[in-house]
Amino acid sequence: MTGDARRWAVITGASAGLGADFARQLAARGWQLVLVARRLDRLQALADEIRNAHRDIAVEVIALDVSLPDAPDALLERATARNRKVHILINNAGFGTYGPFDELPWERQHEMLMLNVVRLTELCWRFAGHMRAHGEPAHILNLGSVAAFQPTPFFAVYGATKAYVRNFTESLAYELRDSAVRVSCLSPGATRTEFSDVAGIAIPALSDHAQMESPDVVRRGIDGMLAGKPQIIPGFINHLNAFISRVLPRQVLAWGAVIAMGGRATMRHRSGGGQ
Ligand SMILES: NC(=O)c1ccc[n+]([C@@H]2O[C@H](COP(=O)([O-])OP(=O)(O)OC[C@H]3O[C@@H](n4cnc5c(N)ncnc54)[C@H](OP(=O)(O)O)[C@@H]3O)[C@@H](O)[C@H]2O)c1
Repeated sequence: MTGDARRWAVITGASAGLGADFARQLAARGWQLVLVARRLDRLQALADEIRNAHRDIAVEVIALDVSLPDAPDALLERATARNRKVHILINNAGFGTYGPFDELPWERQHEMLMLNVVRLTELCWRFAGHMRAHGEPAHILNLGSVAAFQPTPFFAVYGATKAYVRNFTESLAYELRDSAVRVSCLSPGATRTEFSDVAGIAIPALSDHAQMESPDVVRRGIDGMLAGKPQIIPGFINHLNAFISRVLPRQVLAWGAVIAMGGRATMRHRSGGGQ
């Protein structure tokens, strides 16, 4: 079989969490994979795992910091080398920073804006062009969050990046509705991955109980994406959250978001206390 005939999926942020499960589940559904993240050892271990489980699946790994300016262009070039056609792009790489906006390091928040917003947008632009050029059915899945549905104090920039992703993705889905490219936004709520450790969040016991498992979120995400749904919200609690965000006043939603994220601990941090 030549590389040209196979169906390739590109997944950013594939070294952990949801991205690694996207890789496992797409391989099980017969997709060839290009896996992208900064930690090459993690990507190589995942690639070995997938090749052992599915001998007919090709897996290529690319160690890349997607937040850097040249990353989207470099990724498109590597992913489409040897006339390969990409039929799925999953813009999954992303992170949050939790704490008072004016106390969090600016450099880290800038990096988040670049990764979650700017590079994601450019990757859509570059890969949508590639997909439209090859003309075969194709999908772009962007990772949003329920944090997009309301104000998220102490998670202010992260929530805003995901609100951007949600709005941008819905618009792009509409613009491309008559093409062969379907565009979807997956909006998970709290999901058990490395996300909260990276963000510096201690999940309160109540919220911890409500966390979804990554393979479950990913299965719903892939099903929704392949069905061409513009918006995918996995799980009952997250659907409820989305509904409530449409009916409650924004200030109440802001308060609720602080409580759900363990806001009292943040208040102690603010006042310098240790209780
Ligand atoms: N878990 C949740 O509760 C939750 C809820 C809603 C939305 N989400 C969204 O889901 C997506 C995946 O998050 P996750 O929960 O799976 O978190 P995770 O376990 O921390 O995984 C994040 C992935 O992104 C990659 N990444 C981070 N910075 C990168 C960079 N500069 N360049 C390339 N890759 C980078 C990481 O790989 P390296 O460190 O190896 O680069 C890792 O593979 C994110 O967009 C997140 O906002 C998560």
